[in-house]
Amino acid sequence: MHTESPIGIFDSGIGGLTVVKAVQAALPSEQIIYFGDTARVPYGTKSQVTIRKYASEDTAILMRYQPKLIIVACNTVSALALDVVEKSCSNIPVIGVLKAGAELAVQVTRNNRIGVIGTQATVSSNAYARAINHLDSEIEVLSQACPLFVPFAEEGFIDHPATKLIADEYLAELRSQGIDTLVLGCTHYPILRRVIAETLGPNIRIIDSAEAVALRTRDLLSESGKLNTSRKTPAPHLLVSDLPQKFSMLYQLFMGSELPDVELVEV
Ligand code: DGL
Repeated sequence: MHTESPIGIFDSGIGGLTVVKAVQAALPSEQIIYFGDTARVPYGTKSQVTIRKYASEDTAILMRYQPKLIIVACNTVSALALDVVEKSCSNIPVIGVLKAGAELAVQVTRNNRIGVIGTQATVSSNAYARAINHLDSEIEVLSQACPLFVPFAEEGFIDHPATKLIADEYLAELRSQGIDTLVLGCTHYPILRRVIAETLGPNIRIIDSAEAVALRTRDLLSESGKLNTSRKTPAPHLLVSDLPQKFSMLYQLFMGSELPDVELVEV
């Protein structure tokens, strides 16, 4: 492992690109290898056994590139299978999005009422409430699964009226429960952030853990002397398990880049 080794990042689909964007902004010289498991998205509606199997296989794909660090850009895997990822790459650090989101929310809340939205698997695991209450046991955590947000994001329905309709349905109860902070506990949700923010109104702070993860990554690499200090700004190497062209178009839409090359890998 050396400073030029890549950073591996994975998610079930395009959601993890919200993390890629933040890591690129904080660490422009780092080579990123991103894997989106587009053949098997969504993860959040699957059982823990299946999610753990996928987590192990996704990690194995990234390990072929000998990364110096892995970011689990998927809350569902962070909630249910972070130990699987850690075990599959015992010699390098692993950063999960969930802990970073919980820490940020605890710093931000003023009235100790935090809302969390995520996939069914993440919400059922209660992992956010555990992580938040581990930091501050006085805080009340109110959760809501929003499973339809994932396919809406995968379809690029950023501002679509149907997204607003679903957001009204999912968020009405949370809005009435007096939360002052809402964690986007799924990396697909920042893609729909505008609609979510509009639905919640101006008094609820929205937490997206991507930036906190990027800063944690920078600190970890810096502490271990593994920061890439070159002046190059390499484009991420993109891997998917299905439909590379669709991914390429969505990547262009969300990242505002040229149409990138996307490699198809077998899972
Ligand atoms: N983006 C992922 C997450 O943060 C997974 C969404 C899904 O595949 O259901 O949970």
